[in-house]
Amino acid sequence: MVQEFKKVGVVGLGTMGAGIVEVFARAGFAVTGVEIDDAALDRGRGHLEKSLGKALGKGKITEEEHGAILARLTFTTSREDLRDADFVVEAVPERMDIKRDVFADLDRICPPGTILATNTSSLSVTEIAALTTRPDKVVGLHFFNPAPVMKLAEVVGTVLTAPGTIQIATEVAKRIGKTPVTVSDRAGFVANALLVPYINDAVKAYERKYASREEIDASVTAAAGLPMGPLALADLVGLDVCLAVMDVLWDEFREQRYVAAPLLRRMVAAGLLGRKSGRGFYDHSGAEDPAEE
Ligand code: 3HC
Repeated sequence: MVQEFKKVGVVGLGTMGAGIVEVFARAGFAVTGVEIDDAALDRGRGHLEKSLGKALGKGKITEEEHGAILARLTFTTSREDLRDADFVVEAVPERMDIKRDVFADLDRICPPGTILATNTSSLSVTEIAALTTRPDKVVGLHFFNPAPVMKLAEVVGTVLTAPGTIQIATEVAKRIGKTPVTVSDRAGFVANALLVPYINDAVKAYERKYASREEIDASVTAAAGLPMGPLALADLVGLDVCLAVMDVLWDEFREQRYVAAPLLRRMVAAGLLGRKSGRGFYDHSGAEDPAEE
């Protein structure tokens, strides 16, 4: 079934979307990447080409594979080009108004059998599914950053998702080299419900000046052997995404441990979003320590 897929669509080519396109194309799928305008399309394509160029440079793929991957890619600003897609992953910004617009279009454009997956990390998959006339074919397929590297893919089922849809999404995840786990639609699913409060605790420690950002991060990398510390990870994930996850955890459970650190909220308000904005807890473009401001 999955091997018969002729076309996979990815809507939204930000950091996650571009990475997801890469993962599918490297696994042999023909992929159409969709963005809202030419500038966003160029940015997404640039990100992808750079990443594939690095893989080629490191000898992870051959010249021939590089050419074959590029030949499997199509880029467009028209969602109508997904009219023959078998499987679509939505990876647009985490705003319900934007998702609503995308899913209304996908539901209208794609054939009734097409599975519509969302990469949302903080919104309810159930709410997204209910926006369509095919809630049984809507599923969460949640990737982790950097998508080409991280092995986990959460397959998020709702009370409306058909078992066959979960099965196909799981099979897709395996075909693209990911380790799927099936989780239910609750705030943060499983991984973010564990990971983001931990990041938030680190922000609180930093805010209360328990230690410097480097010391806080080293306390985890050197103690627990994780590849990066929580503040560096916040910068990688995006502080806005961390805040959105904390806020949905709070909304759903109203537990004190899910209250977002004030500094996290302040930094998001200030546009200090981490790597994607050039500055977060760390300087990605030459600024100072935000705790000293
Ligand atoms: N795209 C593609 N490949 C990448 C990449 C990217 N953006 N970033 C790193 N890589 C590859 C490198 O090419 C390298 O490959 P190689 O070993 O085959 O040469 C490998 O990953 C290791 O990279 P580096 O040597 O440059 O650097 P590190 O060893 O420090 O690894 C890291 C970087 C993979 C980001 C590592 O630090 C890591 O695993 N960090 C934790 C990331 C994590 O926890 N992510 C989950 C966040 S939660 C989330 O995303 C959910 C969301 O909903 C909030």
